[in-house]
Amino acid sequence: MATTPTDFSRRAADYVKRYTPPRIYGEFAGKHIITVEQFERQDLDKLFDVTQKLRRRVVAHDVEVSRLAAGRVMASLFFEASTRTDMSFQTAMRRLGGNVVAPTGGVQFSSVYKGENLADTVRAAGCYADVVVIRHPERGSSYEASYYMDKLHGQITRKPIVISGGDGIGEHPTQALLDLFTILDQKKTLDNLTVTMVGDLKNGRTVHSLAKLIARYDDQRTRINLVSPESLKMPREIIAYLNLHKVATVETDRLSDVLAESDVIYWTRVQEERFDDPTEYDAIADQFIMTPDVLAQANDRAILMHPLPRKHEMGTPTDHDALDEDSRSVYFTQMENGMYVRMALLALTMGIEVK
Ligand code: NCD
Repeated sequence: MATTPTDFSRRAADYVKRYTPPRIYGEFAGKHIITVEQFERQDLDKLFDVTQKLRRRVVAHDVEVSRLAAGRVMASLFFEASTRTDMSFQTAMRRLGGNVVAPTGGVQFSSVYKGENLADTVRAAGCYADVVVIRHPERGSSYEASYYMDKLHGQITRKPIVISGGDGIGEHPTQALLDLFTILDQKKTLDNLTVTMVGDLKNGRTVHSLAKLIARYDDQRTRINLVSPESLKMPREIIAYLNLHKVATVETDRLSDVLAESDVIYWTRVQEERFDDPTEYDAIADQFIMTPDVLAQANDRAILMHPLPRKHEMGTPTDHDALDEDSRSVYFTQMENGMYVRMALLALTMGIEVK
């Protein structure tokens, strides 16, 4: 590729300061979705209510669902590998009756190959589609994309929106929304729950967004345990955010101190692709491995979550199979919920009413 990720990096990070995403405040229509900080509690209630409705209707084979977004188009721009986020967004749009486009062969065969920058690539997608879902390795890229999409609004006939599918090591808002939906769906409340996040809390963007979302429920007695090696601790700005919202937070590198008390165990992969030095990765790669023996120390009412993909941090393939058989494992449920949450988010941001 003529344009390397590093070319983007200096520019993209600046946009986190330069671009302020709009708060939802009850009105999703026309708003870019790039950080969980856009959502108030009422917005989450509304999103999850629409999610429940759509889930019920899809399960009941309600064909009217496939007319909701008829004639709408979503573009998917994935500058980074993805299975779930990409496929669930595509399926969500198609189940609503909309269409999906992407550069044939992926972004590596788009004009990015000729050296085109992110701002122009995103605006090209906006000229054709109503929603542009973007995943990019550089933090700030979804802010940059939204900034330029707003500029495009004055120049074309429609107002396309940007939805982040993962912003470097920054945030992954839609993953956190599906994670929170799953927790509430399983546990019915966050009140008095202990949520334990384990693994690469530094580079794992899903836990950044999820921690901030849980802080939205600051009237509840939710406790967060953050378990990681010293070198992969949660970024200080997220800890500050949790403190500001008075969420009881414990940081530790000893899983055994907090496992038994956990109601939600949120396991994560060490983000190997974010390490510049492979020896640093090797030094911590094996520190936290979930296996059936480890899960045996958790309590009976706990749920085990993982954004996936999973690798050796969930043990061997045999361990994977054994963990899957445990009724506390809900990562496949999480995955399916992701499609319903994304259907709801697409419908709401496109201004489509769902009954
Ligand atoms: C996550 C991601 O891309 O941040 N995957 C996902 O979207 N479900 C987690 C990961 O890659 O470890």
